Amino acid sequence: MKGKICGTGAYVPGNRMDNHQIAAFVETSDEWIKERTGVEARRIASGEETTVSMACAAGRRAIDDAGISVGEIDLIIVSTTSSNLILPCTACEVQRELGAEQATCFDLSAACTGFLLAYNTALAYINCGVYHTALLIGSECLSNLMDWKDRGTCILFGDGAGAVVLKGTEGEMYLPSTRSEGAKGAALTCKSRHDWSNLHDESGAAAMQDPDHRIGMDGQAVFRFALKRVPEVIGEVLQENQLRKEDITLYILHQANKRIVEAVAKRLEEPIEKFPMNMQEYGNTSSASIPILLDELNRSGRLHEGDKLVLAGFGAGLTWGAAVVEW
Ligand code: UT7
Repeated sequence: MKGKICGTGAYVPGNRMDNHQIAAFVETSDEWIKERTGVEARRIASGEETTVSMACAAGRRAIDDAGISVGEIDLIIVSTTSSNLILPCTACEVQRELGAEQATCFDLSAACTGFLLAYNTALAYINCGVYHTALLIGSECLSNLMDWKDRGTCILFGDGAGAVVLKGTEGEMYLPSTRSEGAKGAALTCKSRHDWSNLHDESGAAAMQDPDHRIGMDGQAVFRFALKRVPEVIGEVLQENQLRKEDITLYILHQANKRIVEAVAKRLEEPIEKFPMNMQEYGNTSSASIPILLDELNRSGRLHEGDKLVLAGFGAGLTWGAAVVEW
């Protein structure tokens, strides 16, 4: 068995924050952000918008696009690092809201590689016949985890959600290629908002408000890691599946930074036109970036039956990986 993506959906908040607005509260400029990252604006959740509400909206759109009933879904995986609650998991909250009573639900936490790993996990389950129809969602409310005084991070990230419906069908599945390197985890961190170790003394309450409980990043280290590992893992996944670069229609990379995408294209000696981007409008939405881009491409008619796509994610952990998707 293999899995086929038969529907996509996305949701981004209406609240758009452009670079000029960011430059009003940290020392930066529209020119610097655009030149160094490609980002022009990002969406920031407001009002009732949460990781769960955005996941539900994206999930509903993917279900509509797939033309299936909610009752057919037997697996929901939500990839997130910014869940509303520790318990219950986001996937169970999505199940409740959608009424997907037949589904087994769990969250997956692997930062910007999370959606790719959710896709691989569902594919493996489908391949061995455990589940048949999966709803996979990447949803992030990163604005909650941002240090809005740190110009090294707050300029980069945004909120949003993307989703796909993956259905079992006859055929051979493509093997993914994935890696992790926990020893380099310090490059991109966020302490739990509930650091229990500090709650046993009087500093506990202060620790909960600590700016350390925000995303911290060694931007250059992550940049260098991505430039080396992403082309490498794409090469591996092509080789593993006996595919040539010419067989690939589009490379759908995690939307971290325009310069990373351009450098990967250059190292692979592939034209930049095969690397669609949308970080200019949404920033880096971590595990939501790949399914949001996939949905945009699907709805704009850029994907055709039989197209082979490479999805590639990379980020905190460190984690990275690539998968081949046949449309
Ligand atoms: O989702 C996956 C995880 N994340 C990533 O993939 C992020 C990967 N890294 C990056 O995208 C980039 O490293 C950043 C966009 C975060 C930073 O860009 P950079 O080109 O690596 O900048 P830098 O940290 O090397 O800083 C260069 C200069 C420094 O000034 P000096 O020391 O040369 O005078 C910084 O202080 O730019 C300064 N700088 C800024 N200036 C204006 C750093 N951030 C800003 C800023 N505005 N926002």
